[in-house]
Amino acid sequence: MKLDILRILDYPFWFNLIRYIITGSQQSMKDYVYKWLSSESPHLVLDIGCGTGDFFDKRYKEYIGIDINQKFISFAEKKYKKFKNANFVVGDVLFYKYGNLRRRKIGIILVSMMHHLSDEELFLLFDNLKKLNVVSLVVCDIIPNPKGLLKKLMVALDRGAYIRSEERKIEILKNYFEIVDTKMLKAGLAVQCGIVCRLKK
Ligand SMILES: C[S@@+](CC[C@H](N)C(=O)[O-])C[C@H]1O[C@@H](n2cnc3c(N)ncnc32)[C@H](O)[C@@H]1O
Repeated sequence: MKLDILRILDYPFWFNLIRYIITGSQQSMKDYVYKWLSSESPHLVLDIGCGTGDFFDKRYKEYIGIDINQKFISFAEKKYKKFKNANFVVGDVLFYKYGNLRRRKIGIILVSMMHHLSDEELFLLFDNLKKLNVVSLVVCDIIPNPKGLLKKLMVALDRGAYIRSEERKIEILKNYFEIVDTKMLKAGLAVQCGIVCRLKK
């Protein structure tokens, strides 16, 4: 069972601070996500489990971040309010009404999120996403066995209950997507596995 004190991570200030201590600015991940999404020129970027909106980029035509945590969404709305292309929605990504997005070319961000969802929940999410015109999905997610004691400690303290190996992540994704690229991304004390996918035709 994870420590109760980690509940402070539900508050934007503590979430941002502790994440910064662990992963720094996440620049390697932001560059990877932007590079692969922008190459497909999506009309809309959907950030699934957007947290406090760290992966919003003003260069996207339109961006919608969805997160279940109301406090994170309020924080992100305030932080990015001057950007007309930034939209944030409180919602459970498993039950979000994706139907009205169907006609548009969509790029999807799934960062530090896979390990918060069980296999069944991921299948439910991907069953919904496959009905959309998804041109690219970029995943970044931690791995269970990074090199170094400190990095292993960070994994042990993570609140996600489903930390999977790179192979297992790919195995799940392959039920829906073709894998276009993979890359290990160093971000401070964390190692993130980057995976770029395209919907299977
Ligand atoms: C580790 S954080 C990552 C946040 C963001 N993607 C980032 O990298 O900065 C995981 C996020 O997933 C959100 N989350 C977990 N389960 C969710 C669900 N079913 N629907 C929407 N958001 C969810 C949490 O509230 C949290 O903000």
